[in-house]
Amino acid sequence: MVELALPRGSEVKAGKRYPASKEAKRVRRFKVYRWDPDVGGNPRWDIYDLDLDTCGPMVLDAIIAIKNTMDSTLAFRRSCREGVCGSCAMNVSGRNTLACTMGMDELPGGTITVAPLPHQPVLKDLVPDLTNFYAQYAAIEPWLKADTPEPQKERLQSEAERSKLDGLYECILCACCSTACPSYWWNGDRFMGPAALLQARRWIDDSRDEAKGERLDELEDPYRLYRCHTIMNCAQVCPKGLNPAKAIAETKKDLVERIV
Ligand code: SF4
Ligand code: SF4
Ligand code: FES
Repeated sequence: MVELALPRGSEVKAGKRYPASKEAKRVRRFKVYRWDPDVGGNPRWDIYDLDLDTCGPMVLDAIIAIKNTMDSTLAFRRSCREGVCGSCAMNVSGRNTLACTMGMDELPGGTITVAPLPHQPVLKDLVPDLTNFYAQYAAIEPWLKADTPEPQKERLQSEAERSKLDGLYECILCACCSTACPSYWWNGDRFMGPAALLQARRWIDDSRDEAKGERLDELEDPYRLYRCHTIMNCAQVCPKGLNPAKAIAETKKDLVERIV
């Protein structure tokens, strides 16, 4: 049987331990991925025994408490704390999610493992490099394209036309879906990934947009679109309850229908 091993530099080693104070009554253990580009070397798992009475109920509350009270060197992204900005996306106990909307009580008991979104270069600790992800978003040209002269007021849509955007416009570009997709892991440089493809669909389906053919042309490629094999990880992890796989399937259907 073939045995796969991580390159030596990628092995995550045991790290430091940060015990809770003796007075702490409700303690939960966090195992957190750490890597500092200024230090280099292998990444490590640091262990923090956090006093839950010092923080709120969400995973992000716990991470902020760790940084504020136990280890100020921990790096992570966050902004809104409301599941709106997408910046706190990370892998919590094996699942990509938003740390700010994931309650600690929603996770299985015991240690909570926190790591950066998978299969992206790590800038530091829990901060992934999403340069490629954002470049793919830019590549789908996420703006209205129309040759019809601008009307005096707004471009109108019927209720039915507007409702076609439900399930698409709510995407917050957190990258949970793309970084959970096996096809994206192996071909992230050429496969657009579920987030960018859902966003592409948001414009293809917009009744005011007049570039549907051009947008489909751009996606008709063995890698950009067709590397989706309907594995459905994307729909399972999306913290906004969206279904990128369905959006991708609709785009594939459009491409078939314009041939026949
Ligand atoms: S359905 Fe497609 S995009 Fe979604 S996880 Fe699977 S392969 Fe990736
Ligand atoms: S589709 Fe969902 S998981 Fe993917 S980027 Fe948008 S909000 Fe995040
Ligand atoms: S901090 Fe904005 S989505 Fe979590």
